[in-house]
Amino acid sequence: MAPPLALLLLLAAATGVPAAAQQPPPPLPMARPGCRDKCGNISIPYPFGIGPGCFIADQFQVFCNDSASPPRAFLVNTSGTYQQNSESSLVPGGVTKYPFVIDWSANPREPIELMDISLARGEVRAYGAVSSYCTKSSTSQVVKLQLTVVSPSKTSNWPFTTSMERNALVGVGVSVEARLATRMYMDWPSSDSWLYTTCTSDASDNFRKPINGSCTGNGCCQVPFAGNSIFEVPLFAVSFKPENKTRWDSDKLPCLYGMVVENGFYNFSSLDLSGYEVLSKKFPRGVPFVIDFAIIADDGYTGNGSCPAEGQKAPPGYACASSNSFCANNTYDSERYLCHCKEYYEGNPYVTNGCQDIDECKNPDLYPCHGNCKNRIGGYDCPCKRGMKGDGKAGTCKEIFPLVAQVIVGAVCAIGFVVVIFLIILLKERRKTRDFYKKNGGPILEKAKLIKLYRKKNLKKVLLDSNIIGQGFFGEVYKGFLGNEQVAIKKPKISGVLENEQFANEVIIQSQVTHKNIVRLIGCCLEVDTPMLVYEFIPKGSLHDILHDHNNNNKIALSLDLRISIAAQSADGLAYMHSKTNTEILHGDVKPANILLDDNFSPKIADFGLSRLLVRDTKHTELVIGDINYMDPTYQKEGLLTEKSDVYSFGVVLLELISRRKAVHSDTNNLLNSFREAHEKDMEGIELFDEEIAVTEDLGILKSLVELAMECLNLQVDERPTMTEVAERLFLMGRSRQQ
Ligand SMILES: *[C@@H]1O[C@H](CO)[C@@H](O)[C@H](O)[C@H]1NC(C)=O
Ligand SMILES: *[C@@H]1O[C@H](CO)[C@@H](O)[C@H](O)[C@H]1NC(C)=O
Ligand SMILES: *[C@@H]1O[C@H](CO)[C@@H](O)[C@H](O)[C@H]1NC(C)=O
Ligand SMILES: *[C@@H]1O[C@H](CO)[C@@H](O)[C@H](O)[C@H]1NC(C)=O
Ligand SMILES: *[C@@H]1O[C@H](CO)[C@@H](O)[C@H](O)[C@H]1NC(C)=O
Ligand SMILES: *[C@@H]1O[C@H](CO)[C@@H](O)[C@H](O)[C@H]1NC(C)=O
Ligand SMILES: *[C@@H]1O[C@H](CO)[C@@H](O)[C@H](O)[C@H]1NC(C)=O
Ligand SMILES: *[C@@H]1O[C@H](CO)[C@@H](O)[C@H](O)[C@H]1NC(C)=O
Repeated sequence: MAPPLALLLLLAAATGVPAAAQQPPPPLPMARPGCRDKCGNISIPYPFGIGPGCFIADQFQVFCNDSASPPRAFLVNTSGTYQQNSESSLVPGGVTKYPFVIDWSANPREPIELMDISLARGEVRAYGAVSSYCTKSSTSQVVKLQLTVVSPSKTSNWPFTTSMERNALVGVGVSVEARLATRMYMDWPSSDSWLYTTCTSDASDNFRKPINGSCTGNGCCQVPFAGNSIFEVPLFAVSFKPENKTRWDSDKLPCLYGMVVENGFYNFSSLDLSGYEVLSKKFPRGVPFVIDFAIIADDGYTGNGSCPAEGQKAPPGYACASSNSFCANNTYDSERYLCHCKEYYEGNPYVTNGCQDIDECKNPDLYPCHGNCKNRIGGYDCPCKRGMKGDGKAGTCKEIFPLVAQVIVGAVCAIGFVVVIFLIILLKERRKTRDFYKKNGGPILEKAKLIKLYRKKNLKKVLLDSNIIGQGFFGEVYKGFLGNEQVAIKKPKISGVLENEQFANEVIIQSQVTHKNIVRLIGCCLEVDTPMLVYEFIPKGSLHDILHDHNNNNKIALSLDLRISIAAQSADGLAYMHSKTNTEILHGDVKPANILLDDNFSPKIADFGLSRLLVRDTKHTELVIGDINYMDPTYQKEGLLTEKSDVYSFGVVLLELISRRKAVHSDTNNLLNSFREAHEKDMEGIELFDEEIAVTEDLGILKSLVELAMECLNLQVDERPTMTEVAERLFLMGRSRQQ
């Protein structure tokens, strides 16, 4: 079966009507196809119907008077469903024989007028007349009664009964006794009046004031149908207990009223008591009362049997025609049943495709959703909103992570992030360290096993600002202890220097040097851009400091013998490096600052080659590196370092040692030139020598020292003595003095 919506869209497309999406959904089919489903604004759903073929059975036929304004709907009078009205006059006290029965056969059967129909409740609201019993004059009483028949008899299979639960019998008046009877008659209380109500707002001596809106005995009284043992009410009429006298205040309060009315419909007002037929005129069409309807199972036209049990085949003529419908047995009578749409469907279960899916999301009052409402056929989903869990329908959605947890998670994430970043940095640092180590020849030195390779962390405790003992062009020098050994660490401040094995090889060579006048290289740290060098620590400081530290008033005394000894040993160290090692090692920067003295004033040459190697290629990248004051002019000119360059520098050191004057390289004040000039004049004046050693008896040896220095300083490189010769001559001088 094609869904009607699709059909409609198809039709719309065929006729060229744009099927606008905003159009309201088509009304649910309530009547049979081709049948009217409304009378005025009263909905007439199948099984009720207007016109032939539009109702399920004769009892359900509806007549619509469109001439009336607004149009009025009636249940077509059948043999078992109709109303009869009667009006009779009585003479008060004139009736002696009771029951006084009205001949109802003389009155026409009138159709019951419908107010509305509810399929869901299985009920019809119809209009019933207000019965009245009025004193017209002292000699005349008028009784207006109505008989309502909804079913031919209690036992007949008829779809209608008067609702027990939804109706009440109400009496209005002073001292009224309204009764429910099965015929239109007046009687003294006894026989057939099976339900009655009494209002006692009675006589002058016992007046109880009426209360507007209250129907509890003060001029208004009511009893419910429910609770009575009779559960099928095929017919009823409201009558009154006869009055055998003229009412005490009949001018003002002439009428008594009685009615069967829907529970809660009637609101009592004290105004209803006074005046002639006031209440009847207030409700000219009558007051609503409720009729239950049902489908009769085996009446021959709706099919045999009752509701099919679950899983059983529906009998022929089964009334619940719509898919997504079900039937419900009548509580009292299993041969009567009602059809209903299944949950989450609405519409008319009695017609094909009458039950349509409800868009529950449009009715949150009935179908609560505290999440994301989503309709589906036969129900709706209501998942919790993002980040929440629970039951959206029950409104128990809760944040998956409460705020505190969110904060904690956030914090943990942040910390995690920081940790990860830290680790990345650490890893990078490690890799860098490893790369440096490799670049600086670590693997080569590892294999050589001649020198200690320090980790960066090993040196950390020494490389503190407070440990700096020297600073200069090369970088910083720190002193400190590594283990039990006191060391000096040279940390180059220039980076990006080496990229080959030269450094490693140089280190290997130097680490093999064990001469007492050479500062011992203990180890190095390769895990940095430019390697750090670890040397033995020489406590007295440099010759430069000892000679020239004038800030210090207690100038260290240096005898000539000691000076010759320092010179001889220094020369010996240099000579050893020049010739006694397998490979020639040149210093290139011989100067008092690089001659360190130990506790016995024994000199140790520092800073062989390596430093120069390390600071090459920097912004100081002149080919020639070294102290200009001590530098061989030939080396300076040609850039080629030879052992004679060291000899030249040593010559300057010798002059400095005997004069205790700084070798300042300038045109006006130059130690070298002063000595040269003096030397040419055969050292006539002794003012050039340090006054501490300038004694006349030592003048000869001083002249020899100047002579040696001048040979070293010879501008003809080849004529300079070798370092070995220099050392031997100095040792000789020293020895000659000791004899
Ligand atoms: C039907 O129409 C009458 C009169 O126009 C109005 O009073 C009544 O409220 C309407 N009923 C419904 C259900 O619309
Ligand atoms: C329909 O209602 C009009 C106006 O109330 C009335 O005159 C007419 O008799 C009614 N027709 C029927 C068939 O009851
Ligand atoms: C309905 O009422 C009319 C008028 O009283 C009557 O002629 C007719 O027979 C009734 N129909 C039924 C089915 O009782
Ligand atoms: C009604 O009242 C008259 C006179 O007051 C009396 O004769 C008669 O018996 C009373 N009838 C009943 C049924 O009580
Ligand atoms: C009831 O209400 C009406 C107006 O609605 C008022 O005139 C009357 O006095 C009220 N009666 C009582 C007993 O309050
Ligand atoms: C009676 O009172 C209730 C509540 O105030 C109201 O809803 C209802 O319409 C009233 N009934 C009549 C017939 O006025
Ligand atoms: C109802 O049942 C009776 C006998 O039990 C049978 O004769 C009749 O044909 C059935 N009616 C339908 C509509 O099935
Ligand atoms: C209705 O009542 C009949 C008879 O008692 C029973 O056979 C049937 O199962 C009932 N159906 C339902 C849906 O309860």
